[in-house]
Amino acid sequence: MLSKKAIKELLETTHRYPGGFVILEENNPKFVILDYKTYRNIMGENFLGDKKLKKVLVTGGAGYIGSHAGRLLVERGYDVTTFDNLSTGHREFAQGEFIEGDLADREFLDKVFSQGQFDAVMHFAASIQVEESVKNPLKYFQNNVVNGLNLLETMVRHNVKNIVFSSTCVVCAEDSPMPVTEEAETKPTNPYGETKLAFENILKTFAVAYGIKSVVLRYFNVAGASLDQTLGLDVENPSHLIPSIFNVALGKKESLTVFGEDYNTHDGTAVRDFVHVLDLAQAHQLALEYLSRQDNSVSEVFNVGSGRGYSVMEVVNASCEITGRMVRMEVGPRRPGDREEIYADVKKIKQVLGFEPKYSNLKTILQTHWAFHKKRFGDSF
Ligand SMILES: NC(=O)c1ccc[n+]([C@@H]2O[C@H](COP(=O)([O-])OP(=O)(O)OC[C@H]3O[C@@H](n4cnc5c(N)ncnc54)[C@H](O)[C@@H]3O)[C@@H](O)[C@H]2O)c1
Repeated sequence: MLSKKAIKELLETTHRYPGGFVILEENNPKFVILDYKTYRNIMGENFLGDKKLKKVLVTGGAGYIGSHAGRLLVERGYDVTTFDNLSTGHREFAQGEFIEGDLADREFLDKVFSQGQFDAVMHFAASIQVEESVKNPLKYFQNNVVNGLNLLETMVRHNVKNIVFSSTCVVCAEDSPMPVTEEAETKPTNPYGETKLAFENILKTFAVAYGIKSVVLRYFNVAGASLDQTLGLDVENPSHLIPSIFNVALGKKESLTVFGEDYNTHDGTAVRDFVHVLDLAQAHQLALEYLSRQDNSVSEVFNVGSGRGYSVMEVVNASCEITGRMVRMEVGPRRPGDREEIYADVKKIKQVLGFEPKYSNLKTILQTHWAFHKKRFGDSF
C-alpha cells in the first residue's frame, strides 16, 4: 500500500507531465502508464537508460565536444574508450580509457576493435575549420571521408552496428527557410560541409547494405563549457565568435571584427543559434538510447540547436555584461558564404529523442564559456 504522500506525488507528477496517467482503483494507484519521453523527463538526471549499448568508442573524444559527451557517458555508467590522435585534442580532456591513435591507421583500428568489443561508436574525430578546408580540401576529404570510411569498414568487419555521427548545419542550403528543418535542401558551400554531407550519405547506404544503424546529429553553433571549468574549447586562433570576443576581453587580441552590419536582421548583424555543449552531450546519450531501441537499420538525422537565434551584437553586448569588460569592436565587410540568419527547428529531436536543452540560454552559455576561458588562458588584466 502506498503512503498518502506517495500517491499525491504520483498524481502531481503525471499531472505535470501530460504524457502519462495513473490508473486508480478505489482511489489507490494501481499502475502508471507513461510514454518513453515522459518517463525520461520525470527521471531527469537520474535516468540511466537501458544501456544495451554500454561499451562505446568515442573517436575525437579528447576534443571539445567529444570530451563533454564522453564525460556524460561515464557519469551515466557507460564504459567509454576515447580514441584520438591529439592533433587538436588534449590528453587531459579524454574520458574513460584512452587510446592514442589515428583513424588513418587501419591496422591499428582493427586491433583496437578486436580488443574493444564495442557496442557503439560516437564519431567526433574530424578536421573542422571551414576556412582551412577551402585552402586545403585534400586534408578534409582525407580525414573526414577516407578516415571515416576506415572506421566504418572496421565496424562492419567487427559487427559493430551503431554509430552517432557529428554533422553540422553547414550542410544545409544557404537559402533554407527558417527555422531550418531536417528536410531542408542540402547544399554545402565549402569543402568542410561537403565532407560532412558525404559522410551522412555514406551512412545512409551503409544502413541499407550492412545494417549499420546511425544517428546523424546536425549541430548548430556549439559553445559553453563544463560547469567545473575543466572541459571547454581550447583551440589556437579560434574563428568562432564567442572565444574571439573573450580573447579581446582578456587582452589577448586588440579588437573584435564584426563581419557585416547591413544584414536584414533586427540590428543588422548576423543571427545564429547557440547550443550549449552540455546539452549537446545529452543529445548524444539520447541518440544512443534511440539506437538501442531500433530493431531495424535506420539512418536518422536530427538538428541540435536551441531553436532560437541571437544576433552577433546581442552576443557581444551580453559578453560585455558577463565579463564586466568593454570589448573593442571594428566592423568589417560581410564574409563570403556567411548567412544572414540561421536557427534550428528542434521539434524532431524533442519529439523523437526527448531532447530538453537545459543550458542553452545565452547567459549560461557565456558564463560557463568565460569561466573556462579565463581559467585556461589566464587574464592579462
Ligand atoms: N565545434 C563546433 O561548433 C561544431 C559544429 C558542428 C559540427 N562539429 C563537429 O563536431 C565534431 C567535434 O568537433 P570539436 O569542436 O569537438 O572539434 P575538436 O577539434 O576539438 O575535436 C576533434 C577531435 O578529433 C581528433 N581527431 C581529428 N582527426 C583525427 C584522426 N584522424 N584520428 C583520431 N583523432 C582525430 C582531434 O585530435 C580532436 O581531439 C567534429 O566532427 C566537427 O565537425 C563541431
